[in-house]
Amino acid sequence: MSAKNYASPPPVNHLPIGVFDSGVGGLTVLKALYKQFPHENFIYFGDTARLPYGGKSPQTIQRYSLENVLYLQEQGIKALVIACNTATAMAKEHLQEHFPFPIVDVISPTVAKALSETKTGHIAILGTKGTIRSNKIQEALLSHGRHLHLYPVFCPLFVPFIEEQMIHHPSMPLIIDEYLSHLKNTPIDTVILACTHYPLLIDLLQDYFGENISLIDSAEPTALELFHILQKHALLKSPEDTKNFHRFIVSDDPEHFQKHGRYFLGEMVDHVELVPHFNMVQA
Ligand code: DGL
Repeated sequence: MSAKNYASPPPVNHLPIGVFDSGVGGLTVLKALYKQFPHENFIYFGDTARLPYGGKSPQTIQRYSLENVLYLQEQGIKALVIACNTATAMAKEHLQEHFPFPIVDVISPTVAKALSETKTGHIAILGTKGTIRSNKIQEALLSHGRHLHLYPVFCPLFVPFIEEQMIHHPSMPLIIDEYLSHLKNTPIDTVILACTHYPLLIDLLQDYFGENISLIDSAEPTALELFHILQKHALLKSPEDTKNFHRFIVSDDPEHFQKHGRYFLGEMVDHVELVPHFNMVQA
């Protein structure tokens, strides 16, 4: 009788880290994750069929986020990064109730960074309508007990311009001025880029505000937070284990994602898969 050869399942550490955003914006976070974790595997999901998330209701964002993460869970992931402020603000708690793996979001690490940077305590928060209206970032900043002056601003035209790679279009400075001119006469010294698409505007915004203003991008603080979480849960992959792979999956138009992805990630996005279907869930 021949002995059966049962392969044992790979250890959890070998599994990839799931990352999701509504579109290409989360690639600004993935770029920092690549730098922080050269040996980890990643699966990035961009919900391009349903973006932008910024103007949608909390119920809708919770449902989309659940579907996205269920799909990533089916692929097998050991941890999740919500690389989207809107989804973090509206769905993080909901996701934490449903999934067993550690979940890192872009808001908490960015808030901590902004608090460590500000001297005047006057902080502007630029985000989508959903993020700003959720009040989550404002609450997180104020929960640290410091006396702060907050200037939340939603900038709904930024995401479509960035998705279409139109940041150098002549109308972009006018749009920036339209949304942000009222901040010019305030004592702000720190501006939180509370949307993972906005780092693409960092040069334009730095020119607009001047070099004395700190612009806080969530990518690096989030990568550092993930490092601490993976270390705490003994989930880091050792460099010699299995070779690296990165998968990119979108819910629509993989060609557009592939074409524009490089711009956000700083390197080629070589192959983009189209999600076959979603498991519809009850929000
Ligand atoms: N990049 C996302 C965020 O951080 C959302 C952009 C959108 O889909 O509106 O909020």
